[in-house]
Amino acid sequence: MADQDSLKCKAAEKAVEHIESGMVMGFGTGSTFNHVLFILSEKLKAGEIDNIVGVPTSEKTLALAQELNIPCGTLSEYPVLDLTIDGADEVDNKLNLIKGGGGALLREKIIAQASKKYFIIVDELKLSDHLGEKWAIPIEIIKIALEVETNYLQSLGAEVKLRKNKNDEPFITDEGNYILDANFGVIKNPKKLAKKLNKRAGIVEHGLFLNLADQVIVASDKGIKILSK
Ligand code: A5P
Repeated sequence: MADQDSLKCKAAEKAVEHIESGMVMGFGTGSTFNHVLFILSEKLKAGEIDNIVGVPTSEKTLALAQELNIPCGTLSEYPVLDLTIDGADEVDNKLNLIKGGGGALLREKIIAQASKKYFIIVDELKLSDHLGEKWAIPIEIIKIALEVETNYLQSLGAEVKLRKNKNDEPFITDEGNYILDANFGVIKNPKKLAKKLNKRAGIVEHGLFLNLADQVIVASDKGIKILSK
């Protein structure tokens, strides 16, 4: 049985087939997406693809792309993206996602919404019948709203944890906010929950990515499966 990382790599290889010379891309965040950068840098070096620019969804991705000499730009320079490829934490059969395990959900959602095509790459362990079976929802909040939004999420039935880093300090996003991981258990109606989250002033963004993905590329031991809209 293939390990999870080699499945992530297989999904990335399949996604890279969609990259064409001259594209303006959205670059995702996380261990699955990193494979895309490694493969892309080889293809750029070999001259198989050229003239790519990527808008990164996180400082971590920017650093890796720069290390690999892959040209990057900003969303102000490139407000329309041809193709964004990104990972996800959980995917249901309607192509709805939970994202934000790496803490980059805000920029990830902005970039997803600016993309003509939005492709997600996962290994099969990330699939579930209902979102929330495997992951809590990462929720980016304004710092001063910590107690207020914790109370609000608890009132909706979630078990809520402030995300911390290794030093037990609160994790700070690239935009300078906190993340609450809100465990709602199985989410029967993600759209209804998203509406409740969207209306809160202290919630900057949440990790429910509904009706955004055009294609999910799933790698398993049996090969690649494509889920499309
Ligand atoms: C980053 O904030 C996330 O949305 C990632 O895309 C997601 O957590 C997937 O990460 P891995 O590819 O590392 O599993």
